[in-house]
Amino acid sequence: MVSLVVVAVFLLQGTLFQLPQAEAFKIFPTDDSLTHQQITEAAFLRKMVEVCRDVATSQGNGFTLPINSKLTATTVQKACSNSYASLLQLSTFNLAIIQTALSNAAVDRKVFSTAHHFDDEDFKNGRDLITKGIVAVKVSIKKGNYLSARTSLGIVCHTLQDFYSHSNWVELGSNAPFSTLIKPELPLNNLASRDTKTCKSCVGKDCSDNILPEVLQQKLLTSGYFHPIFPDKPAGKCSHGSALDQTSSKEPTGGINKDDISSDHGFLHKRAAEMAINATMELLEDIRLATGDQAFLRLMGLSQTSVLAFVIDTTGSLSNYIAEATRVFISIIDSRRGTSEEPSEYILVPFNDQDFGPLIRTGDADRFKEQINSLSASDSLNPGMCLSGLMLTLTRAPPSSDIFVLTDASAKDTELKSSVEAMIESTKSTVTFLLTNSISTRSQQNVSLSRSLSQSEIQLYRDLARVSGGQTIEFTNTTSSQATAVITGLISADLVTVLQAARNPPKAENFSFVLDPTLSNVTVYITGDSPVFTLYSPTGITQSHSQTDLPLGSILTVGNLKRVKLNSTGQTGEWKISIDSTSSYNMRVTGQSSVDVLFYFVEIVEGGHGDSWGQRFTRPFIGRNATFYVSVTGRDSVTVTDVLLVEASGSDVVRGTIKAVGATDFLVNIDRIPEWPFVVQLKGLLNDSSLVSQFQRQSPTQHKGSRITVMAQSQNITQPGVPLSLNFTVATNTTSGNYTIRARNDQGFSVSFPSSLILGTEGSAQGSVTLTAPSDTESGTDVTLTIEAEAPGSTDLNYVTLQLTVSTANAIFSGYHSLSLCLSFFFFIVCHFVCF
Ligand SMILES: *[C@@H]1O[C@H](CO)[C@@H](O)[C@H](O)[C@H]1NC(C)=O
Ligand SMILES: *[C@@H]1O[C@H](CO)[C@@H](O)[C@H](O)[C@H]1NC(C)=O
Ligand SMILES: *[C@@H]1O[C@H](CO)[C@@H](O)[C@H](O)[C@H]1NC(C)=O
Ligand SMILES: *[C@@H]1O[C@H](CO)[C@@H](O)[C@H](O)[C@H]1NC(C)=O
Ligand SMILES: *[C@@H]1O[C@H](CO)[C@@H](O)[C@H](O)[C@H]1NC(C)=O
Ligand SMILES: *[C@@H]1O[C@H](CO)[C@@H](O)[C@H](O)[C@H]1NC(C)=O
Ligand SMILES: *[C@@H]1O[C@H](CO)[C@@H](O)[C@H](O)[C@H]1NC(C)=O
Ligand SMILES: *[C@@H]1O[C@H](CO)[C@@H](O)[C@H](O)[C@H]1NC(C)=O
Ligand SMILES: *[C@@H]1O[C@H](CO)[C@@H](O)[C@H](O)[C@H]1NC(C)=O
Ligand SMILES: *[C@@H]1O[C@H](CO)[C@@H](O)[C@H](O)[C@H]1NC(C)=O
Ligand SMILES: *[C@@H]1O[C@H](CO)[C@@H](O)[C@H](O)[C@H]1NC(C)=O
Ligand SMILES: *[C@@H]1O[C@H](CO)[C@@H](O)[C@H](O)[C@H]1NC(C)=O
Repeated sequence: MVSLVVVAVFLLQGTLFQLPQAEAFKIFPTDDSLTHQQITEAAFLRKMVEVCRDVATSQGNGFTLPINSKLTATTVQKACSNSYASLLQLSTFNLAIIQTALSNAAVDRKVFSTAHHFDDEDFKNGRDLITKGIVAVKVSIKKGNYLSARTSLGIVCHTLQDFYSHSNWVELGSNAPFSTLIKPELPLNNLASRDTKTCKSCVGKDCSDNILPEVLQQKLLTSGYFHPIFPDKPAGKCSHGSALDQTSSKEPTGGINKDDISSDHGFLHKRAAEMAINATMELLEDIRLATGDQAFLRLMGLSQTSVLAFVIDTTGSLSNYIAEATRVFISIIDSRRGTSEEPSEYILVPFNDQDFGPLIRTGDADRFKEQINSLSASDSLNPGMCLSGLMLTLTRAPPSSDIFVLTDASAKDTELKSSVEAMIESTKSTVTFLLTNSISTRSQQNVSLSRSLSQSEIQLYRDLARVSGGQTIEFTNTTSSQATAVITGLISADLVTVLQAARNPPKAENFSFVLDPTLSNVTVYITGDSPVFTLYSPTGITQSHSQTDLPLGSILTVGNLKRVKLNSTGQTGEWKISIDSTSSYNMRVTGQSSVDVLFYFVEIVEGGHGDSWGQRFTRPFIGRNATFYVSVTGRDSVTVTDVLLVEASGSDVVRGTIKAVGATDFLVNIDRIPEWPFVVQLKGLLNDSSLVSQFQRQSPTQHKGSRITVMAQSQNITQPGVPLSLNFTVATNTTSGNYTIRARNDQGFSVSFPSSLILGTEGSAQGSVTLTAPSDTESGTDVTLTIEAEAPGSTDLNYVTLQLTVSTANAIFSGYHSLSLCLSFFFFIVCHFVCF
């Protein structure tokens, strides 16, 4: 009863005042203190060691970790390779850690309640956030959406870890994590009541003994009060402490937080951080038990989770070429079954000249093959709804999917081009077009009406493929085996981009690139009509486009794509390729390597005691500064010398300023986002014991800035069956006029929105999107909503992407509202503000 008073009062306070950012374990490493990311990473690594040890033991195999070696992604991978030889993917393991850490960090960015940080003795709401978050993680895993599971996991980890820094759990002499925080069924006992005094003032700067002895004797749980503006707190309560916390200047002065080693209770920082690691491991074990080892490994990124999607044109009687291409797809599906490269899911979206969809999604390869084989065709020769089919796939498939589009016709819905580009950019999926020359394959039909593609029609597909880091392959009867070889190479595991460049209009140019020793199967793709090129190896050997086999590699031609597979010996060093062409061309150098680079645009919010940051889900503003987070996978440490924004189809460059935030993580500041579309290029040094080598990587996906901003009201929960209305604002300082608005979501929920907004001379307008999850939607389902605004004449476009969780209303307080509490007067107050 008494503790409910605390809840009611602080919900009220949270409603009336927006509480600015609280403090937490640090986001950026500054000294020996452990950051949220280090805590999360340590827990991931230690948990993986346990899982691999269990598996090795159950298989009767030994399991050894090198003695005295520091636990890193690399050592854990080596130690685990006995248990999971074929499953292990170091780069995706790193990716899983990064994704979790990114959303963990984002919790500090927003203006959040005390509950997110366990400040102000807000234990019940904090525990509730954790247990609800765990449900969301498990539901996402069940649905195969691992990215979304990691996002929810990162948020839960943040709150869970903060408990050990902000409460007196460690001071109480506890030897194990507080399991009650992850178990909604356990009662939260021994909370200090609102009128229990918990602290006395610090003696000067010495706060080591400020918690009252009776609190420690009775093992009462308390946490520090925090407010950056008002010094108010209930009488006798502990404060968080630090220069930013105004409550700590009021009696009892000083604080109890253990955020870093120089905090008021900094002498307990290491112990609190260790306890937070153990608590995170306990949370991971809870998820592992609920989902099983296989799904858990996928969550940890240790087994391949790629998704293969096909968008197939069913117009024009599935002629020979389609039959041949589907044979290619099926042989690729078969060749990957049971291997580490087997996709976790398959997606099929048919389209014709009238219609597109439905989207068919399955994890069962046999069922998927049946679906492909049973595609029926209409007999029209009109252009198809190609971009609509592709858009549906991009919207509903998980990020980073491999998408293949098969067609022999031009697209009827070309107005979707900018939207498709934006969607490619935000999902980082790769799109490859397989185009067929229908005149030769369909000569028995009415040729004058056949759907042959003109150069400008093909150019649309080439542009989209290039933006995504994919290819355009012209496929005919006679080249189907070559096409198969090319496609197989495009979906190999651990594929990285070393360099890509496009020239439209064409321009004779020399491109140089560095190959490092970690690369294998290096392949150069050159697309264009009759490009003339010469390759120069680091040792001065040359090979021209007309030498198909020797001395540097073998050249395969499929339509207007030339693929050069480099000989694996003598690769390391600086290469040059000189290209000339009479028409536009596109060049890409790829290879397989565990060393890859992840780029995310982030938003920095400057706070009193340290900056906080989170991922941005919108295009950066042209002409203004921007920051992105760069993480190099596959190595325990790395030197980065250059991060550049390179003009996607030219040679202009904007150089970033690099600041290390970890051994392999960097924040890069860009002074001015350029007008032109760009790719991100990174150069650096790999230090493998004695051998130091240069390396370079590039983002496969092309990015763009915008002069439009789209901002949506922050919202994160939606209820099944209840329409959720979200306000958004579109603003610009350039083109006023009639803007086209589009909104879509990855769950296929119904969404309504104004089809256009007029931006007047003041340059901004507000609209509202309504999203309705069907009433039978499982609580915990995540939904990604994208709101897009396009300037008149398609001259510019921006979008914002929001993550929402479907949650039933009463689940919010299911953790503690029992019948007896409901009878109390205070419950009425709580519900008045929260339930209704
Ligand atoms: C964390 O767990 C390990 C293994 O159970 C234990 O040895 C260690 O003492 C724990 N650390 C803390 C701070 O509780
Ligand atoms: C295409 O291949 C099919 C069988 O693979 C064959 O029947 C057909 O004649 C071929 N068409 C052309 C134009 O080569
Ligand atoms: C081709 O189709 C058009 C329109 O249906 C028709 O007028 C024409 O006679 C056909 N030509 C041949 C050779 O079948
Ligand atoms: C490219 O390099 C070759 C050989 O070094 C040189 O002959 C040629 O002029 C260069 N081309 C351009 C466009 O710089
Ligand atoms: C990549 O290279 C390895 C040897 O380095 C080879 O065994 C493998 O087959 C190659 N993969 C492909 C897709 O060519
Ligand atoms: C690879 O390169 C080496 C030396 O450059 C050459 O001796 C060898 O024949 C090449 N192998 C192939 C398959 O091209
Ligand atoms: C719009 O904003 C950008 C960045 O702040 C600025 O560089 C540009 O001059 C502005 N344009 C107009 C027309 O005000
Ligand atoms: C970025 O620009 C804003 C103003 O638009 C400025 O306040 C901020 O200091 C700049 N940040 C950096 C890192 O230059
Ligand atoms: C490479 O690593 C070694 C040992 O770890 C170190 O002594 C050396 O300075 C490093 N070199 C570079 C260029 O970072
Ligand atoms: C959702 O957002 C609201 C503010 O809009 C915030 O109070 C609440 O704590 C957030 N919940 C989660 C789970 O992030
Ligand atoms: C959304 O916008 C409408 C109309 O401008 C306004 O009445 C409403 O209060 C706004 N809702 C929120 C939550 O801001
Ligand atoms: C804005 O454009 C849409 C179609 O793009 C049109 O339906 C609408 O009438 C236009 N609004 C105004 C005020 O011109």
